[in-house]
Amino acid sequence: MLTGTMRINSKGHLEIGGCDVVGLASRYGTPLNIMDESLVRTRCRYYLQSMEKHYTNFEVIYAGKAFLTTAMCRLLEEEGMSLDVVSGGELFTALQADFPPARIYFHGNNKTPKEIEMALEAGVGRFIVDSFSELDLLESLAGSMGLQAEVLFRVKPGVMPDTHQYIQTGQVDSKFGFGLTDGQALEAVEKCLGMKHILLRGLHCHIGSQIFHTEPFVQTANIMMSFLREIDVIKNVQLTELNLGGGLGIRYLKDDQPPSIDSLISAMAEAVKTRAVEYNLPLPKLMIEPGRSIVGEAGTSLYTIGTIKEVPGIRRYVSVDGGMSDNLRPALYNAKYEALVANKAEQSRGEVVSIAGKACESGDMLIWDVDLPPLERGDLLAILSTGAYTYSMANNYNRIPRPAVVFVQGGNSDLVIKRESYEDLVMNDLIPKRMRKIKGEPLIKKAANP
Ligand code: LLP
Repeated sequence: MLTGTMRINSKGHLEIGGCDVVGLASRYGTPLNIMDESLVRTRCRYYLQSMEKHYTNFEVIYAGKAFLTTAMCRLLEEEGMSLDVVSGGELFTALQADFPPARIYFHGNNKTPKEIEMALEAGVGRFIVDSFSELDLLESLAGSMGLQAEVLFRVKPGVMPDTHQYIQTGQVDSKFGFGLTDGQALEAVEKCLGMKHILLRGLHCHIGSQIFHTEPFVQTANIMMSFLREIDVIKNVQLTELNLGGGLGIRYLKDDQPPSIDSLISAMAEAVKTRAVEYNLPLPKLMIEPGRSIVGEAGTSLYTIGTIKEVPGIRRYVSVDGGMSDNLRPALYNAKYEALVANKAEQSRGEVVSIAGKACESGDMLIWDVDLPPLERGDLLAILSTGAYTYSMANNYNRIPRPAVVFVQGGNSDLVIKRESYEDLVMNDLIPKRMRKIKGEPLIKKAANP
């Protein structure tokens, strides 16, 4: 399953972005996250071109939670994308990269007063307001800073796409957004109309992630348009912006067949245009917020194979030098991946093995039962389609340093996130004075009951 610029070169090695992956491993070490830069750019362009083809007034907003670094922010700006951030940390990353604040959308179900102040100060384009509590907080903070905040309301359209329960978000029983059927969303509109420091521009929704059908998106577009009409009829307010969120699925396995970006956009745009005519509403500015479908297939995780253990008659465990610390998805969602051996990319398969991570946790298995060529210590395992929600969810369980990330394109590689060092791991650790020890001398034991 080769995607983007992947190919097998004359040495029989996997190549991405014109770079021999075996060479990348010796230059940067493993585990290494390799990002096919031109595939990321192509995906941004597909979204923008498709929007241009099917709609007039639009914005494509990349969901930073999928993968965000300062270099990624630069790439997004160059491609004409806007950015969704969900925390002070993501916002800070964007500001560090000098990303235009007016193109930043600030999400989150529990924005802290500090984060809100930071965003107001930076002049972010839109706050996606998630609750009554946030509405009051924003009104008061914007007021005390003498500012007005432009907002979209996050609405729960009540649509449940067929995806993993942990990544469904549009249902009524969800921590995100205002309910539509229970009247909360309309109540929020009413409430904010009386507020001095809030300007309501439109509505937002997001029904979930890794969705393989266009119907739930169309259903959502219809529901949101009918809510725009309700607001128009009941409140005599015509909101001008509609953000339909992200969620398009990607290909993790050979047989996965997600809809194309163009079929998603054309179906959504059609629904919005049809309802606008039917309801006699002006066409809202249409926004979409993809994350996974921009970066997911562009990412490859590269590991070095270490211990190989045979459990007689049961299975062969092949351990790699990373695992749930750099890719939590298999442990958390039972996510499935394809793999190949980067230094034996041409060799025929025939050995079914299971790929184990190195964390002290039985659940740290990256792939169960994958067919690969015969393996030995030192081989390089490439796990495919790992560009989304891997580095961004990476952690230091077992004090395992997080990997490096490189962008590859046209035969060049650029480090965009350095590998974490052991020093980085203890950087924020502090030893209280009462536990101090003179270097080289034994620590004086305290009495059992001080
Ligand atoms: N907009 C909002 C408000 C979101 O909550 C999300 C994802 C997106 C856009 C982007 O959705 P995408 O196009 O990437 O599907 N960690 C999980 C995925 C969590 C998705 C959270 N929200 C995973 O690894 O599958």
